[in-house]
Amino acid sequence: MRLVLLGPPGAGKGTQAEKIVDEFGVLHVSTGDIFRKNIKEETELGKKVKGYLAEGKLVPDELTIDLVWDRLDQDDCKDGFMLDGFPRTIAQAEALTKGLEERQIKLDSVINIDVDSEVLVKRLAGRRVCLNCGASYHVDNKPSKEEGICDRCGHEIVQREDDKEVTVKNRIDVYKKQTEPLIEYYSNLGLIFNVDGTLGPDDVFGKIKDHLTQLKRM
Ligand code: AP5
Ligand code: MG
Repeated sequence: MRLVLLGPPGAGKGTQAEKIVDEFGVLHVSTGDIFRKNIKEETELGKKVKGYLAEGKLVPDELTIDLVWDRLDQDDCKDGFMLDGFPRTIAQAEALTKGLEERQIKLDSVINIDVDSEVLVKRLAGRRVCLNCGASYHVDNKPSKEEGICDRCGHEIVQREDDKEVTVKNRIDVYKKQTEPLIEYYSNLGLIFNVDGTLGPDDVFGKIKDHLTQLKRM
């Protein structure tokens, strides 16, 4: 399967991606996770993108598009992938469409997780993440078993730098201006599957699972 997860910051893309990986074994490619890993390891890329993430701005398209194709051209992506956080601009979507055409492959579905802005702010303020394995928690909705420690890998869990309130508002504005138009772009290609992201995580997943099960039968 080749999938895209679309939705505003805090919609639950990462949360659903984990469930989709468990159920369908599809490879998860998150541009946000790749950028954060590079920042943590202080690589050249990390140094270039650090300021953009801290301010909630998008990393420039050229940098992001090259990075994604480098990743998608690796062997482990040959049988499929699930993009989380890419594309985020029309230019990125067009580059993805063009690159897929050149490789004679197609997307199966673009899953759009829909959530209102007020809910997003609450979700992101309470989110805690593991910088080691990427697992995501929420202080109220999904606390870790032991406070401050990742259930999955035992490393420390922290608040993401860009989950402070001012930056969250900025990210939501950026989403509305630059990413929301992708819903229409992919609707026109007949690829959009809309899901109500305000439901509980398991209910959201139930809907995605039905959709992906149907796709696999086709
Ligand atoms: P990225 O890491 O992609 O962040 P984002 O899109 O802002 O999305 P989040 O990871 O914040 O939210 P999510 O939808 O994954 O929600 P989650 O599942 O964690 O990007 C970060 C930055 O990198 C960008 O700002 C940009 O600078 C850069 N970047 C990345 N890609 C780029 C690109 N293509 N081009 C340019 N720049 C790029 O859930 C959130 C919280 O809610 C959690 O605490 C979770 O437990 C809880 N929750 C989830 N689902 C539910 C539910 N159904 N009910 C209740 N609580 C829930
Ligand atoms: Mg995420």
